[in-house]
Amino acid sequence: SSDLASKLREGTKQSHTMAENTAFMKCFLKGIVEREPFRKLIANLYLVYGALEEQLQRYSTHPVVSLIYFPILNRTANLEKDLAFYYGENWREQIAALEAGKTYVARINEVAETEPALLVAHAYVRYMGDLSGGQSLKKIIRSALDLPPDQGTGLHEFEQLPSVEAIRAFKGQYRDALNALPVDDTLAEKIVAEANYAFALNRDVVHELEDDVRIAIGDHVFDLITRQDKPGSTERSPGSTSVELVAAD
Ligand code: HEM
Repeated sequence: SSDLASKLREGTKQSHTMAENTAFMKCFLKGIVEREPFRKLIANLYLVYGALEEQLQRYSTHPVVSLIYFPILNRTANLEKDLAFYYGENWREQIAALEAGKTYVARINEVAETEPALLVAHAYVRYMGDLSGGQSLKKIIRSALDLPPDQGTGLHEFEQLPSVEAIRAFKGQYRDALNALPVDDTLAEKIVAEANYAFALNRDVVHELEDDVRIAIGDHVFDLITRQDKPGSTERSPGSTSVELVAAD
C-alpha cells in the first residue's frame, strides 16, 4: 500500500492548523458569519469545484485519478443552488472570481494538463475537508445566518451520505482508496506537496475576504477574535476528535 492517506494527513497537519487559524475561520468558529464575504466564498468555491470536477470527469479513466473519483462527492450542483439562494436567479451575472480564486482555478487546470495524478491532492483537500470540519461549519453557518431549512448550506450537504455514521464510513472508504492508489514514493511526495499548496490556495481565498469581515464587525472585535492561535484539529490522532467536539469548543 502507498500509505498515502496517512502521508497526506501527517504531511499537511501544519497547513491544516494554518487554515483553521486564518482570521476568516477564527471568526467562523466564534459564530461570526457575514453574509457578503460568505457568499463570495461560495461563489469562488463554485468556480474551484467547477474546474476540479470537470477535470476529474475528464480523467475518469486515468489509472490514478479514476480510483479517487467519487461522483457522489460532486459539489457543483449544490453550489449552484446555494448561489441562487444567496444572489437570486441571476447569480451567474453577479458572481466574480477573486484574484486568489483565479489562481486556484488556474492551478487545478495546470496540473490537469501537466500531471493529472496531482488532481488527487486537490480532491483530497476539498472533499475530506467538507466531510470533516465542514460538517461543524455547516451548523455554525445555519445558526449564524438563521437559514431556512434545506437552504444555503448545499456545500456541506451530501445527499447520499445522510448521517454522521455514513460520512464516517465514507471517509474510511476514501482513505482506503488513497492507500490503494498505484503511486510510488516520489509521486506520493509530490501529491503531499500539492496538497500543501492547495491548502495555501484556500488560505489565500479567505484572506482576500478578511477585509469584508473586518469592515462588517469593526476593527476592535476583529482584532480580539483573531489575535490568538489554536492547535489544529488534525494535530491530534485520527478518530480522537469528533465534529461535535470542535463545534462545542
Ligand atoms: C480534517 C476541522 C478547516 C481540510 C479535519 C478534522 C477536523 C477538522 C476535526 C478531522 C476529522 C477526522 O479525522 O475525521 C476543521 C475546522 C476547520 C477546518 C474546525 C475550520 C475552522 C479546513 C480547511 C480545509 C480543511 C479550510 C481545506 C480547505 C481538511 C482535510 C482533512 C480535515 C483535508 C482530512 C485530514 C485527514 O484525516 O487526512 N478538519 N477543519 N479543513 N480537514 Fe479540516
